[in-house]
Amino acid sequence: MEKEVNILVVDDEEIVRDSLGGWLEEDGYGVEAVESGKKALERLPERSWDLMLVDLKMPGMDGIQLMDEVRKTHPDMLIIIMTAYATVDTAVKAMKKGAYDYFVKPFNPDDISLTIRKIVDHHRLVKENLFLRKELKKKYKLHDMISKNEKMLEIFELARTVAKSGSTVLIQGESGTGKELLARAIHDESPRADAPFISVSCASLTESLLESELFGHEKGAFTGATAIKRGKLELAQDGTLFLDEIGDISLKLQMDLLRVLEQKEFRRVGGTDLLPITSRILAATNRDLQKAIDAGLFRADLYYRLNVISIHLPPLRERREDIPFLVDHFVGKFNIEMGKEIQGVSEEAVRALMNHDWPGNARELRNVIERAMVVAKEHIITEADISLSVPPGGGNHRTKSLEEIEKAHIRLVLSENQWNVARSAQVLGIDRVTLYNKIRKFDLKRETIAPKT
Ligand SMILES: Nc1ncnc2c1ncn2[C@@H]1O[C@H](COP(=O)(O)OP(=O)(O)OP(=O)(O)O)[C@@H](O)[C@H]1O
Ligand SMILES: [Mg+2]
Repeated sequence: MEKEVNILVVDDEEIVRDSLGGWLEEDGYGVEAVESGKKALERLPERSWDLMLVDLKMPGMDGIQLMDEVRKTHPDMLIIIMTAYATVDTAVKAMKKGAYDYFVKPFNPDDISLTIRKIVDHHRLVKENLFLRKELKKKYKLHDMISKNEKMLEIFELARTVAKSGSTVLIQGESGTGKELLARAIHDESPRADAPFISVSCASLTESLLESELFGHEKGAFTGATAIKRGKLELAQDGTLFLDEIGDISLKLQMDLLRVLEQKEFRRVGGTDLLPITSRILAATNRDLQKAIDAGLFRADLYYRLNVISIHLPPLRERREDIPFLVDHFVGKFNIEMGKEIQGVSEEAVRALMNHDWPGNARELRNVIERAMVVAKEHIITEADISLSVPPGGGNHRTKSLEEIEKAHIRLVLSENQWNVARSAQVLGIDRVTLYNKIRKFDLKRETIAPKT
């Protein structure tokens, strides 16, 4: 029967094998004892060994050679070298080559017992920690998207669920909130993952170009149409078609698109054959479509057609707990891309990042970190390395009301003073009660910096 912890003893001396084997068995470990490196390698695949006790000096393959061999197939194996007084130097060398520890012969059974217990416990903790960290990462992740924000995690859940269906999804949210990332994640989580994900940016093309981009055209459909061209609807066969910036298409195209989506068939421009639509449609916009409908710029019927499942990605300033999390994420990503070893961001820099309003959301944050990592001279990104497009808490491209500026300024001062209300009130030149009232009025909350995972 396989015991909980398995130890493989390798020693050419029978008395060592017997005594050590006996003690370890008494301690409740599963033990095998063999007399050579060759035998040890043979036994290796038989069980999942937790620990090897290896004699340094053995005829044939010695302890160090065996260790090198074991590492080839079991790079994480814990190996303890056993040695006589005379060869402690070599044992130290063995440690440098990756042995976990060494025991000096003759052994004291109690010492051995205690040391092995410690190693096993410690190792189990490390393993559990690694496992927990991986689980945590999984929880806060949807493909390339990460977040610790409750609303975002609900969106990740919803995305996983709707991915399994073929429903149309409309993703709304400000620029840079991750709409395209989410669309790709939905595709990757769906049964269509092996078919193409085709993205059309509806904002960048004129009406007629977009039309032929979407539907394709026949040869001779218009001047310049010298050959037949397949549209994106056709290219996304069985896959996913992502209509980006859907809020920007003309009313005529809106009507065409609506008809096509309802009939699930389309014609190439200038063509007569009806082609079936087999792709799943995802659409995104950073416009407020409700407003566009009210203004007569967007067809309500197309809106309802697309909005079967509606996802609204919150802006970064409404999920500030994601700022340090994303910073870590981007630093790790750019370390790999740039071959750098930046360890993180200084406390002042984090504070500046936390107080920024992020009109460009996660994309802006990514760009700020990328720039900072290029200019950073140390292994830590400092406040000086960070250039924010607007002063922290200050206005962005839209004009702000006095109240918004007041709110941002109070938040900044509170955060600079670690939310010490008395000190902050002093800095602001108001009394504490007034500050308390303003905190309540503006619904200000202390931002906690999420622990690293
Ligand atoms: N939750 C997130 N986790 C990790 N990276 C993110 C996240 N959200 C956004 N990003 C980063 O921001 C970039 C921009 O995201 P994306 O292109 O999906 O935004 P968008 O909402 O489509 O913006 P736009 O409306 O301007 O097209 C991504 O490439 C990615 O680097
Ligand atoms: Mg986009």
